[in-house]
Amino acid sequence: MLCHRIFAAMLLSACLSSCGQAQEPQTLSIGQLFHHETSFGDAGFKGKNIGWGQAAPLYKKYDKAQKVELPKPSFAGLSVEKAIQKRKSVRSFMESPMNLEQLARILLSANGITQQRGGIARRATPSGGALYPLDLYVIATNVDELTNGLYHFQVSDSSLELVKEGDFSIQIFEAANEQRAVGASPITIILTARFGRITQKYADRGYRYAYIEAGAACQNIYLQATSLDMGTVAVGAFNDDSLNELLGIDGLHEAALLIMPVGYPAQR
Ligand SMILES: Cc1cc2nc3c(=O)[nH]c(=O)nc-3n(C[C@H](O)[C@H](O)[C@H](O)COP(=O)(O)O)c2cc1C
Repeated sequence: MLCHRIFAAMLLSACLSSCGQAQEPQTLSIGQLFHHETSFGDAGFKGKNIGWGQAAPLYKKYDKAQKVELPKPSFAGLSVEKAIQKRKSVRSFMESPMNLEQLARILLSANGITQQRGGIARRATPSGGALYPLDLYVIATNVDELTNGLYHFQVSDSSLELVKEGDFSIQIFEAANEQRAVGASPITIILTARFGRITQKYADRGYRYAYIEAGAACQNIYLQATSLDMGTVAVGAFNDDSLNELLGIDGLHEAALLIMPVGYPAQR
């Protein structure tokens, strides 16, 4: 593995030299190497295909979990143009609760099934190969008729699966490097990627696709929150180990990508 990396670094360095951008192999960052190794060239995929085995299942399921059915979404709200115009990052929230219908709208906008097409249940965000690597978790701390806890959004039937009951606002605040925007909103969404769904087809390039898809889902959450007169912020600065541990995922096959607190803005 290390040999392969060094070889790739030398190759990339040689390529950059021939383009007039001389660079020593040891100066290449992991990001430069990642981008190079996941590129397509004339000879196809530049990286090494290690054989990715079986794909991870399309739907992650907590079979024994208590389930909460989400209400059908309402299509009332701002035009997409107005939502784009009004969208901004909100980092301070009122103590007002959210209701289940609002929560359903936000989750369905990010990762809900919208149509059946070509035998595939398509979702609100585009996905490379329609392989849908993302999963969404919700830390609920102030939602009407919902027990506080960590939930997993079950895409296949639009429900919430209770992973663990309790108030996790302090844990999520700490995992987000104690940013004050996190832990004080009625809900906090965490976007994760289950890489095995997409690497099986695209090898390491699948990581790029998962990150891009998280960006699309993130924007949908921003726009839906805006349409509900609420706000959110994409939080990428967090302690990966703490957050993955809180979610009960290993950080390798499934890893947290973004935290998004959602609620009514404290200042307008
Ligand atoms: C990938 C990503 C990571 C971000 N991480 C953080 C973060 O950790 N903390 C934070 O307060 N804002 C974070 N932001 C929000 C940006 O700071 C914000 O979008 C930017 O300042 C532009 O402001 P606007 O969203 O109000 O237009 C992040 C945004 C993105 C897209």
